Amino acid sequence: MFYMATNRTFTMIKPDAVANGHAGKILDHIIQAGFKVVALKYTRLSEAMAGDFYGIHRERPFFNDLVSFMTSGPIYAAILEKDNAVEDFRKLIGATDPQKADAGTIRNLYAKSIDANAIHGSDSDENAAIEGNFFFSSFERF
Ligand code: RTP
Ligand code: MG
Repeated sequence: MFYMATNRTFTMIKPDAVANGHAGKILDHIIQAGFKVVALKYTRLSEAMAGDFYGIHRERPFFNDLVSFMTSGPIYAAILEKDNAVEDFRKLIGATDPQKADAGTIRNLYAKSIDANAIHGSDSDENAAIEGNFFFSSFERF
């Protein structure tokens, strides 16, 4: 089944945040901000999966670094639900470059660099649905 709900987004807590012990605090931050966890998985991306997931960036100069970083360790993947989920979640995580992320955002609090930036958030309802379907079957959503 293909989900197109506009009240859902998809996130990954990236390998840096898992490795440095911030995953629990980040998940709590997300829940305290009003997002409901619909699906959650602890897993590690293969190169093929990371390449597919970020396929839109395949021609960009940072693509190889992005794939090697995203496969460097396990991640948490999740589908989240809230009114206006995609936009509100992008606000919660802050700018791609943590140096430019507003105070109190997840990337401001927990990210070190533009590569190791702690967390992913979908950039549109369409991509939220595609990304959620990439990781989760309908039996894994509650
Ligand atoms: P994400 O998809 O991971 O949530 O990040 P984003 O939307 O904020 O940024 P996006 O443009 O989708 O880029 C995906 C990831 O690629 C790395 N990146 N590096 N060196 C650079 O100029 C550059 N630009 C992007 C970042 O790690 C970013 O999260
Ligand atoms: Mg993006």
